[in-house]
Amino acid sequence: MSEFLTELRRRRTFAIISHPDAGKTTLTEKLLLFGGAIQLAGSVKGRKAARHATSDWMEMEKQRGISVTTSVMQFEHKDTIFNLLDTPGHEDFSEDTYRTLTAVDSALMVIDSAKGVEERTIKLMEVCRLRDTPILTFINKLDREGREPIELLDEIERILSIQCAPMTWPIGMGKRFKGVYQLYADAIQLFNPSHGDRVVEGEVIQGLDNPRLDEILGDQADELRMEIELVRGASHEFDKKTYLAGKQTPVFFGSAINNFGVLELLDAFADNAPPPQSRQARERVVEPDEEKFTGFVFKIQANMDPAHRDRIAFLRICSGKYVKGMRMHHVRIGKAVQIANAITFQADTRTNIEEAYPGDIIGLHNHGTIQVGDTFSQGETLKYEGVPYFAPELFRRVVLKDPLRAKALQKGLQQLTEEGATQLFRPLKNNDLILGAVGVLQFDVTAFRLKSEYNVECVYDNVPVTTARWVGCDDPKKLEEFKRKAFDNLAEDGSGYLVYLASSRVNLQLTQERWPDIRFSATREL
Ligand code: G4P
Repeated sequence: MSEFLTELRRRRTFAIISHPDAGKTTLTEKLLLFGGAIQLAGSVKGRKAARHATSDWMEMEKQRGISVTTSVMQFEHKDTIFNLLDTPGHEDFSEDTYRTLTAVDSALMVIDSAKGVEERTIKLMEVCRLRDTPILTFINKLDREGREPIELLDEIERILSIQCAPMTWPIGMGKRFKGVYQLYADAIQLFNPSHGDRVVEGEVIQGLDNPRLDEILGDQADELRMEIELVRGASHEFDKKTYLAGKQTPVFFGSAINNFGVLELLDAFADNAPPPQSRQARERVVEPDEEKFTGFVFKIQANMDPAHRDRIAFLRICSGKYVKGMRMHHVRIGKAVQIANAITFQADTRTNIEEAYPGDIIGLHNHGTIQVGDTFSQGETLKYEGVPYFAPELFRRVVLKDPLRAKALQKGLQQLTEEGATQLFRPLKNNDLILGAVGVLQFDVTAFRLKSEYNVECVYDNVPVTTARWVGCDDPKKLEEFKRKAFDNLAEDGSGYLVYLASSRVNLQLTQERWPDIRFSATREL
């Protein structure tokens, strides 16, 4: 096999989806610990401090600096190279989090065993659904009292509409947590708490009937045997095809903080998760093993390093190989560009890279010409699809402090919203500027950047808007009628598309019922 194919096939590009506090950061650290981190793990810890975001702007600067170093983490395990794309989750949650999910080939879902399926996970799962992304599940914190495992699987199946295939099964929980049974290896991995960087392998007992099990577990051994019989009868068997189709999720139990269950998870990931997949462009489907380079930008991040003050466009390679100094075709503007200094992000420094393969992420320096959703190729006119805008859920009216700076404000907002973390809406009925976001910190970031980069000071007012939908209709007459009747609720987004701003979910629902011919969509293709 050619070196190119070998490199391509050993890549796994993924993201973690979870609700805040389920253990994403902890699990990330452990994955990097088990998988010899090519890029250092130390920076992940840094993010915990950054979690307590404030609108203090030094703090924010620091936070952005840190979060960028962890935007892409590369590590190796079992000859497999993992690209873990960070999905900001706490106050730093934003549309970038959603869009990052369009750039992965699979996802890892982390669930807190005491809390089950939580709201943020549901939303992130909806985004994964758009591309039927395969999902592996890790149920965390078994060292604490949590809910019954069978009940958790039921909940995942019911709320997330995906089959669960348990791969391991926990033996007790909390104080009685003894380890996990591996359903397919017929082996019991005993729990041996080991915090920190120490990896202590617990004893492994082969076979559920092994008398050694009774010695160690006492009564719990028979309980386990009965439970496993039930589980085998009542749950789905793992089927790789169904998993790869995004219809079934293999489930692992463990405790990230205790390094327990992480290695099994990682092994299964290396064995089963998909390598870089083919991808739909408007013109055709592109295969990852095509010789010519193609890729798309899913995120733009600014001022990552206060000393540089530039913007970096994150590009996911879809086919071909990146080689330092190569010429790329910037499809949207129809120009050739020479990319001499694409970067990858190591713990504290940025490093130039020599080559990169499908599934890898490279950072391109951007001086305002690159937008989220842009495609790069080696000459072919190609536009990758499936990198959408998502309907914001938080809205603020921008109020300018110095009315003479109105022009600068417009320009600043236009450019900042092009980066994709916030969206701008202009109501048809007045000259308001309404900013929409999915994470609240983005408003502070925008205000702070307007001040530091455009010398514009603004504050925010609340607006009676709770959600937005892009509006469309095949019948121009109907659309005109709708525009007249719903005029007060309509706005244009940054690209001039028509958007319905709803004051409440009920209002949206009623409007949808009243106008069955109008399409209301929660995403808009870039
Ligand atoms: P997140 O990134 O998903 O938000 O979660 P994070 O890893 O920060 O974990 C949230 C909290 O849960 C942390 O506690 C973390 O230590 C704890 N945690 C993670 N995995 C496990 C586990 O397997 N068992 C138990 N018992 N706890 C776990 P914290 O008190 O918020 O932070 P810290 O002071 O411990 O750092």
